[in-house]
Amino acid sequence: MTDTIFVLNGPNLNLLGTREPEIYGADTLDDIAGQLEDRAQVLGLEIDMRQSNHEGHLVDWLHEAQARGAKAVILNAGAFTHTSIAVHDAIKGIRTPVIEVHLSNPHTREEFRHTSFVGRAAKGTIAGFGALSYTLALEAAARF
Ligand code: DQA
Repeated sequence: MTDTIFVLNGPNLNLLGTREPEIYGADTLDDIAGQLEDRAQVLGLEIDMRQSNHEGHLVDWLHEAQARGAKAVILNAGAFTHTSIAVHDAIKGIRTPVIEVHLSNPHTREEFRHTSFVGRAAKGTIAGFGALSYTLALEAAARF
């Protein structure tokens, strides 16, 4: 096992900073990457941060996390959280622990966000703390 944490981000998260800031906050994905890098340095971990709007990329990257011996995956699958059995199955299919992360708290939002196929397969979930959700997930991953 390596000290690398994969941080995988799904659709529309490239728009963070300008996308519904009242829900998702003002931080961009680059800002969040910077916050994770800073904390990872203290924890002695490496961050491999990626974003894609395509479901299959998330599946491929989950497989890659295991193949490369990643310590853990922090996954914000965006809307695929609520729709993707393929992402669910990929999480189930690898031994690498996956932490589900959301900026917002989907349970306080529309009904269609209350189902999480990611959450059914993930080791745990952190949601509702804005950009801090990612750092909290990193703290958890550091203890695996
Ligand atoms: C999100 C919540 C999802 O419901 C939504 O589709 C997103 C972002 C979050 O981080 O709060 O794209 O995953």
